[in-house]
Amino acid sequence: MIELRNLHRTFGSTRAVNDISFSVPKGHVFGYIGPNGAGKTTSMRILATLDQPTAGDAFIDGFSVVNDPDRVRYRLGFMPDYFGTYANVNVREYLDFFARAYGLRGKDRTRSLSYVMSFTKLDTLAEKPISGLSKGMKQRLCLGRALIHNPAVLVLDEPAAGLDPRARIQLREMIRALAAHGKTVLISSHILTELAEMCDTVGIIELGRLLAVGSVNDIQKTQQHQARVQTQILGGAAALGEWLAARDDVHSVEISGESAIFLHDGDRQAEVGLLKEMIQAGFAVAAFGSQDKSLEEVFLDVTRGHVQ
Ligand SMILES: Nc1ncnc2c1ncn2[C@@H]1O[C@H](COP(=O)(O)OP(=O)(O)O)[C@@H](O)[C@H]1O
Ligand SMILES: [Mg+2]
Repeated sequence: MIELRNLHRTFGSTRAVNDISFSVPKGHVFGYIGPNGAGKTTSMRILATLDQPTAGDAFIDGFSVVNDPDRVRYRLGFMPDYFGTYANVNVREYLDFFARAYGLRGKDRTRSLSYVMSFTKLDTLAEKPISGLSKGMKQRLCLGRALIHNPAVLVLDEPAAGLDPRARIQLREMIRALAAHGKTVLISSHILTELAEMCDTVGIIELGRLLAVGSVNDIQKTQQHQARVQTQILGGAAALGEWLAARDDVHSVEISGESAIFLHDGDRQAEVGLLKEMIQAGFAVAAFGSQDKSLEEVFLDVTRGHVQ
């Protein structure tokens, strides 16, 4: 439903989007993760036909954003990362305006408005001026606006930014429900953990380049060439510290009393080998455990923290 094909967008010497390709099948939620300035908004604006690629193309339900922008607009709802201020407009009027702009008339418009207000839990706030809404309510209204013409594809730019935990859980549930109804969703964030639970696939982007694509589990696994190992050695871990220091596959050893904590290069099989060697070398290993890297550590490993 969404496909980016060798997409490029440059601003002067800045390569905001530098040869990005990926696709998202129907009903899937794709998390677009990257630090600030990575190129997320630029590529999403191109998908929403608000900007044009320098080279390459993108497709929504098979229609090119370059050659068929009108068809793309009817199939796509875009939620930008800002909310314009509107004076003297209430929730219903705001949604009604966008419904009219999409050409919805009569019963279709009424149905569409009540569906969207009920889905985003805004029905009790219909008459409330939007200038008085909380951040979470505004985000829901913004999502409602993106849904008003019942698009098959949703492109949501940092919708969870600035939300409190309850509002974030609500957002997550709405996005899951949309995917369950067959909508295809592209959602961005600079925080991997914020999206991990709601995405089928994530793409990690930095400096306009896609660095990794896959399920959160897959990305975690491919980055799993190093694990943090915790051991306990009865009688004290000082001698183990010296033994470990002589090995090439062990780093950052911290010894404290009976405990030794260190980073080990290698997969689980290699860890078992290391444990065997420790026992054979005569250490009284009372505990040996390893921890997968956290999602945050994975993100830091994949990205390099560069800005342009
Ligand atoms: N209209 C523009 N003019 C010049 N540079 C821009 C413009 N829009 C974005 N950029 C630059 O493109 C890069 C990517 O920005 P953006 O897509 O907003 O990143 P993100 O949404 O991931 O934070 C940044 O270096 C940004 O400064
Ligand atoms: Mg952005």
